[in-house]
This record gives sequence, structure tokens and C-alpha cells, in this order.
Amino acid sequence: KKGSYDHFMQKEIHEQPHSLTTTMRGRLKDGGVLLGGLKEHLKTIRRCRRVVFIGCGTSYNAALAARTFVEEMTGIPVTMEVASDLLDRQGPIYREDTAVFVSQSGETADTLLALDYALENGALCVGITNTVGSTLSRKTHCGVHINAGCEIGVASTKAYTSQIVAMAMMALAIGSDQISTQARRNAIISGLTSLPSCVSEVLKLDAEMKELASSLIDSESLLVFGRGYNYATALEGALKVKEVALMHSEGLLAGEMKHGPLALVDEILPIIVIATRDACFSKQQSVIQQLLSRKGRLIVMCSKGDASTVCPNGSCRVIEVPGVADCLQPVINIIPLQLLAYHLTVLRGFDVDQPRNLAKSVTTQ
Ligand code: UD1
Ligand code: BG6
Ligand code: NA
Repeated sequence: KKGSYDHFMQKEIHEQPHSLTTTMRGRLKDGGVLLGGLKEHLKTIRRCRRVVFIGCGTSYNAALAARTFVEEMTGIPVTMEVASDLLDRQGPIYREDTAVFVSQSGETADTLLALDYALENGALCVGITNTVGSTLSRKTHCGVHINAGCEIGVASTKAYTSQIVAMAMMALAIGSDQISTQARRNAIISGLTSLPSCVSEVLKLDAEMKELASSLIDSESLLVFGRGYNYATALEGALKVKEVALMHSEGLLAGEMKHGPLALVDEILPIIVIATRDACFSKQQSVIQQLLSRKGRLIVMCSKGDASTVCPNGSCRVIEVPGVADCLQPVINIIPLQLLAYHLTVLRGFDVDQPRNLAKSVTTQ
């Protein structure tokens, strides 16, 4: 089943041009988006007071990656809930809310309990899942199957990118009645069409990421700074490193750097800064300058051709990735970090597909 690959995680990372293609298959039509599972519910969603994204782990991060674009396309406020925390707080969920549950397996206990809670509170419940026939798919009022194909590695990779694309398509579908955003929608639809080939291109960084991993093999910790569309990329990249490579790693909001994280910066701690082109680019350039002036050990992820712009004196390591539309860039940017986590795990001699203490589907609280 692994074919020519050594591990399922490796296979699933490299499969992403294909899994993303199947996620979009039959759904991008005549310059529009057709999601059969949402069609009948779009009017209700458009009238809702708030969208609440609910999930755990990587699925939560995928929702966070899609959040900004959903807000942009729909004008509806989007709030984020980690499923267990919503339950702990018994946080407010109303009839006027659209609660969107994101889960690869569709069987995560906390997510399903949060679903029961939202159903009791009368919200419209929407599922985003990879598993047809799962409890999540059955119990939600409607939803979108991401159709990424079976994912076996405990660390989610291809489901993450397919979830982001499914939620981007959901945003386009909800916003499709708005004339003012038509040009932007067309641009993103064409961006989605060319996304699988950009993913193939970024996968060519495999050897470079293996080399980077070998330079980090003995590090005790790894920080990842992101912001805007790529705050989620920072969280998800750090989660991958933590869960499979068993190395402490934290994803941080770059805008919060001065409020604590800066105290950790020295010549030893490796720090990845995500600084691909978008509206936050100049702010990230200044973050890089401030980290360099404190002798930070930087690895900067930037758009192709930007190496000397982000790091003029050549004192940081640079990962150049293909540029795509800002809201789709998280799909590209996570891939070098997935590859890095994979190689770091193999080099450190840990189990890639079955990390210590973790399960693919957490069906108990
Ligand atoms: C559906 C078919 C697909 C077929 C296509 C042809 C299924 C599962 N899908 O895909 O095989 O090629 O029509 O037009 O038979 N749903 C939920 N919660 C979820 C996810 C989905 O309630 O979390 C519901 C949807 O609202 C929908 C149904 O499940 O009623 C199928 O969803 P989905 O597979 O995404 O729909 P299509 O893309 O239309
Ligand atoms: C587990 C998995 O913790 O559950 C993660 O190890 C996953 O990879 C998380 O992100 C949530 O799972 P699901 O199936 O609800 O997306
Ligand atoms: Na359903």
C-alpha cells in the first residue's frame, strides 16, 4: 500500500497534488463553485449571525487557515473553537449561528460532543470531513466531504491541505451572490485550478528539507513565526514537528513577538519565519530585522525570488516557495514544513506513522 515510499506519512505528503485534485473534482464549474452538499443551505448560511469553526488538532489549524478568506468572502464574523474548550466553557452557541465542524476522521470524541451541544442549541451544523458515513457526516445537517482519500499516517498531512481547499470553496459558494467580489472570486477559482501543479513544484524541496532537517537533528526546540493567512501554517508546522519528530516546537503569532517570545532568541534556538508575499509582508520583514539584530538563528520561508529581499546580508537560511493567491498560500507553505517534520523524524530514529502516545482518531475524552 505504501508503494515506493518508506512510510505512509511520506506517501501522503507526496500524494497532495492528486488529493487536492480529487477534493476539487466536479466542484469548480463554469467559473463558479458547486458544492452539492451545501447547495440547499447556502441561503440559510448567508443569513446567519456568525460562523463558528470547531475542531481539534490539525483540523482546527485548517479551519484557522481558512478563517480569513471565509470572513472576506461572506462578511460574516468567524470565531474559532477548540472542541474541548467549547465544552469546558459551555460557550454560547445560538440558533442564528452556523457551526462548522472540521474532522478528518469524523469520529473525534470532543468534536462529536461539541456537535451534540450545538445541535441542542439549535445552530445549523455543517461538517467538513474526509470520511463518508462517519458519525460527523451523518449527524450534521449538511456538509462537504473533502475526498482526499484514506489517510493512514497519524500525523495529518493531505487531509489538512484538502480541508483548507474545501473551506475555501465553501467561502466562494457562500459569497457567490456578491457582485462586488466577483473579480476576486474568479482569481481564486483560477488559483485553485493551478494549485496542484504548484504543490508538485514545492514538493521538489524534498532534498533541501532533508538537508535542513539534518542541521536541526540535535536542536532542543524549534519556533515558527507566522501571521495573517500563515499564522495557521506556523501552528500546524510546529504541531507536525512536535507530534512526529518528538521535538519541542511552538507556532507563534509574529505580532506577539515582543510580548514574550523575543526573550528566547539567541544564537542557538532555530526560528522559522514565514514571510511569503501578502499584505503582511513588510511587517514580517521588520520581524526578521529585529530577530537578526538579536543574533537569531533564522530560517526564512519566502516567495520565489525574494531571498535577497528577506535576508539582504545572507545571514539566514532561506526556503523559497512558489507564490499563489494569498488565501491559498497556506496550502503551499505547509508542505516544506511537513517534509521537514518527516525527515527530522526519520533522522532522529522515531516512528513516523505511529508516534509515541498518539492515535489517529481520538475517540475517548
Ligand atoms: C455527491 C456524492 C458523490 C457524487 C456527487 C455527484 C456521496 C457521499 N457523494 O457528492 O459521490 O460524485 O454527489 O454529484 O454520495 N454531508 C453532511 N455532513 C458532512 C459531509 C457531507 O451532512 O460532514 C452531506 C452533504 O450535505 C450531502 C451529502 O452528505 O447531502 C454528500 O456530501 P458530498 O459528498 O460533499 O456531496 P457532493 O460533492 O455533491
Ligand atoms: C488526533 C490525530 O489527535 O486527532 C491528529 O492524531 C488529528 O492528526 C486530530 O488532527 C483530530 O482528528 P480529526 O479526525 O478530528 O481531524
Ligand atoms: Na448529514
